[in-house]
Amino acid sequence: MMDAGRHPNIELMTYTEIENITGYVGNFHVTVRRKARFVDESECTACGDCVPVCPVIRPNEFEMGLSTRRAIYIPFPQAVPAAYLINIDECLGDVPIACGKCLEACDKKCIDFDMKDRIERFEVGAIIVATGLDVFDPTGLDEYGYTRYPNVITSLEFERLISAGGPTEGHFIRPSDRKQPKRIGFIQCVGSRTEISPDGPNPDGSRGHPYCSNICCMNTVKDSLLLKDHYPDTEITVFYMDIRAFGKGFEDLYRSSKEKGVRYVRGLPGKIREDPTTHNLLVTVENTTAGRLETHELDMVVLSVGFVPPEDGHIKKLLTLSNTSDGFLLEAHPKLRPVDAPAKGVFFAGCVESPKDIKDSVTQASAAAARAQRLLNKDRVSVEAITAWVDHDLCTACGICVKVCPYGAITADPKQKIKAVVTEASCAGCGACAAECPQDAIVMRNFTDLQIMAQVEAALAENPEEKTLVFACNWCSYAGADLAGVSRLQYPANTRVVRTMCSGRVDEDFVWRAFELGAAMVLVSGCHFGDCHYMTANHHTQKRVDKMWDRMERWGIRPERLQLEWISAAEGQKFARVMREIEEMRRQVTREEIEETKAIIAKRWRKRRK
Ligand code: FES
Repeated sequence: MMDAGRHPNIELMTYTEIENITGYVGNFHVTVRRKARFVDESECTACGDCVPVCPVIRPNEFEMGLSTRRAIYIPFPQAVPAAYLINIDECLGDVPIACGKCLEACDKKCIDFDMKDRIERFEVGAIIVATGLDVFDPTGLDEYGYTRYPNVITSLEFERLISAGGPTEGHFIRPSDRKQPKRIGFIQCVGSRTEISPDGPNPDGSRGHPYCSNICCMNTVKDSLLLKDHYPDTEITVFYMDIRAFGKGFEDLYRSSKEKGVRYVRGLPGKIREDPTTHNLLVTVENTTAGRLETHELDMVVLSVGFVPPEDGHIKKLLTLSNTSDGFLLEAHPKLRPVDAPAKGVFFAGCVESPKDIKDSVTQASAAAARAQRLLNKDRVSVEAITAWVDHDLCTACGICVKVCPYGAITADPKQKIKAVVTEASCAGCGACAAECPQDAIVMRNFTDLQIMAQVEAALAENPEEKTLVFACNWCSYAGADLAGVSRLQYPANTRVVRTMCSGRVDEDFVWRAFELGAAMVLVSGCHFGDCHYMTANHHTQKRVDKMWDRMERWGIRPERLQLEWISAAEGQKFARVMREIEEMRRQVTREEIEETKAIIAKRWRKRRK
């Protein structure tokens, strides 16, 4: 951080919040709030004379509440700038006659209680989101007694206790009696790798999350080595499910910790009890290697807590980002574009995208910086030729397209009757807007209604009643169909595939036209939720198909004739199986039923379109 602060090309805005972001790739307008520090940072020499006179004492957040700070403080030792600030909500200020003591103590007269927040606006071409993550709070895990037993601490509290710059200056003591513990236990996977099920004991995720937090195993191995270096006689026991020591040099570290006497017990403790007189902890665990129940008496237990995604959805909303099912931000492509956000010109660095260690965070940050640089080095931005445009002769300014665009690329104002306008630099080309537009006023370049209808008509030109028409999204289902083909998997030869960029592009009209032409079965298929290349565009597919099923029911057409399946690029097997199952259904559809459907569609759908 100090290097960044000193770099001539980096302006570090600390104690600053993002208020708003508008615009698009190459042309973002950012508004920030520079919060008032109430101390002139350019004058403050961090002499600290103001601190002892401040009467307000609060838990020090950086030290995990293991020490205190005053209302005037430096947030953490390496903070940039190295200057004090006042938390004005905690400060008594100089209004109540009682205080204003820091003002008197400061010789340089840096303190200014009249300081105000400043709003600043600037323009940037690219944005890197590096908002980090939060740590799992184990208070809800009653069996471990965190906060109930003073000698049960988290791995983050451990870091502060063992740090030379921490509240105990690196002397490792246990909180209950400030003595050095001789027997320490580490419990792994606290808050990680826990199932969440609506009917189970963890419906809201308060007992943890299903994913692996990536760093906890190696953090514990490192902590155990640190303890062995400082206090070689300490008995250390690690309770674990399995140790994940992948990565350069990690297996060596793990082996070295075992050689130094750290004991690894495979099994997670079911309960911790405290001896009220000694404050020692009795840890009951099923040792699954030895196949027996054990009770370990320990002086201290460290809960190796996992990570949780940051709660702040503000940035996510401003940049129209979305989450994966585990709550971290969704990247443009997990393998091919892992540092790019789906929104153009936005990149990710660090744990905001997934839990990762320092090395991986640095790697991703470097990659994100390089990606942003590559974009900014060019004097123009190229976009795919698949973008939307609006025919203003047809647009009625209803604003539906604005609501469905996952990228916020469309503006319109139904109240003022301002017609829709697409910012092409932001448009990713999913086609959800074109599919939803009731006036057919939005045209997707290279995937126009006319082009897709022509494909539908060509596919059903001969013996339509023997065909199954499949709308497959380019990124998953079409690739799944392709995989089925190259893997020589057998599926019915009467399958006719129409490719769209996203399942969100599949307009109701395409489906009705297929039935009108006599198709026996229609399948709409796309990426699984969370995998859609266009963030949430496939959620609109689901809603649209739900509506079509209702309509079919009302019109007297069997809804089973329209199928919806999520098939990934790796699911060639699934594609083949689904097609075989649909073929079974197709055989049940009689010619009379098809004729009846054609008549219904001709009457109902054509009427609606007029
Ligand atoms: Fe596959 Fe959206 S890209 S459903």
